[in-house]
Amino acid sequence: MVVARIPFISPMNVIMKNLNIGMIGYGFMGRTHSNAYSQVNHFFPLKYKPVLKAVCARDAEKVRSFADQWGYESVETDWRKVVERKDIDAIDICTPNNLHKEIALAAAANGKMVLCEKPLSMNTAEGEEMVAAIERAGVPNTVWYNYRRAPAVTLAKQLIDSGKLGRIFHYRANFLQDWTISADLPQGGAALWRLDAAAAGSGVTGDLLAHCIDTALWLNGSITDVSAMTETFIKERKHTLTGQIEKVSIDDACTFFCHFKNGSLGLFESTRYARGHKALYTLEVNGEHASLKWDLHDLHRLQWFDHGDEGIVRGWRSVHVSDSDQPYMKNWWVPGLQIGYEHTFIHQVADFLKALEEGKPCSPTFREALETQKVCDAVISSAKERAWKTIAS
Ligand SMILES: NC(=O)c1ccc[n+]([C@@H]2O[C@H](COP(=O)([O-])OP(=O)(O)OC[C@H]3O[C@@H](n4cnc5c(N)ncnc54)[C@H](O)[C@@H]3O)[C@@H](O)[C@H]2O)c1
Repeated sequence: MVVARIPFISPMNVIMKNLNIGMIGYGFMGRTHSNAYSQVNHFFPLKYKPVLKAVCARDAEKVRSFADQWGYESVETDWRKVVERKDIDAIDICTPNNLHKEIALAAAANGKMVLCEKPLSMNTAEGEEMVAAIERAGVPNTVWYNYRRAPAVTLAKQLIDSGKLGRIFHYRANFLQDWTISADLPQGGAALWRLDAAAAGSGVTGDLLAHCIDTALWLNGSITDVSAMTETFIKERKHTLTGQIEKVSIDDACTFFCHFKNGSLGLFESTRYARGHKALYTLEVNGEHASLKWDLHDLHRLQWFDHGDEGIVRGWRSVHVSDSDQPYMKNWWVPGLQIGYEHTFIHQVADFLKALEEGKPCSPTFREALETQKVCDAVISSAKERAWKTIAS
């Protein structure tokens, strides 16, 4: 008797194709991404299944322990080996910013798909090189601006695109932290590369405002020009790698105004010196008919004010984004039960795999993320020269 070979059918009746991941860096983002790859097929019906093929970092013992903890099949200590491996389909860049370009270029040259952490690059010039390389190679790519995929933020996008807010007048965003206030905190090295301009490119502008800018461009369209001020409150810190007291070259705080192409005004602020705030990312959009607000500390809620409501009950509504007709939520629990931070990364993987299946790009692509880089560069140069700067097209 001939028995037909039955392909593996997932519980969601979808034929699985393996997508072998090679992840470079196993820190904070390495964990969020590994979790996302592990979870995505449990919740989203997809043809592709990420396989944790290899993880890479320089310390052999630590990377082995990470691989065991998360279920990676193999380890490498040199990222160049990972990008050259024939059994890897996609390279995931989870390293400090100064390595993004070199790894992305090598990955593209080897025909690998690339998922790159934000910010895309140290500056616009590097970003342009990366876009050119990735587009020349024609490989699928995305940049992990994950806050777009908090369901309440995706719902904000749907509401804005539906025209419910009418003409937009104001876009406001903050990203506030307080972890670098101590002058005793050194700069550079493993945990503190964000304070070292050579590894990070910039301070809060590239680290935190880049998120706010990406979301703003997505929700409210392009930014035409900016006027910024930055401050470095602690001017010198000991450098972990040299042991010397060295000048601090990153921006500790940044505030900027901007015009959007749609005629609205933008106001952005970020700092690591707002005592009491750990990761307060908030955004607010004010339109002719309605306004909306979002707060990362309460990320499943969207605050909504509709001027069209009956006068006597008109007021801000707190929408608990957990119903099955709200973005991403039909894939999770039952209406009323919320999800969290890690799910934004699971959503990005789900969208990347779905886009792959459909032969479409997954936003933000390298080219789209380059727009954020251009705004970041204009912000830094505006602050330096105390002048308005037009965003390069
Ligand atoms: N999307 C987000 O919300 C978000 C949040 C945090 C960080 N990030 C971005 O993710 C990237 C990584 O940040 P993080 O917080 O995970 O940093 P981290 O310091 O926690 O981890 C960095 C990792 O890179 C590894 N690494 C450094 N140099 C390496 C090399 N030469 N070869 C191989 N591995 C190397 C380190 O061993 C470490 O595992 C940065 O670009 C950062 O801006 C994004």
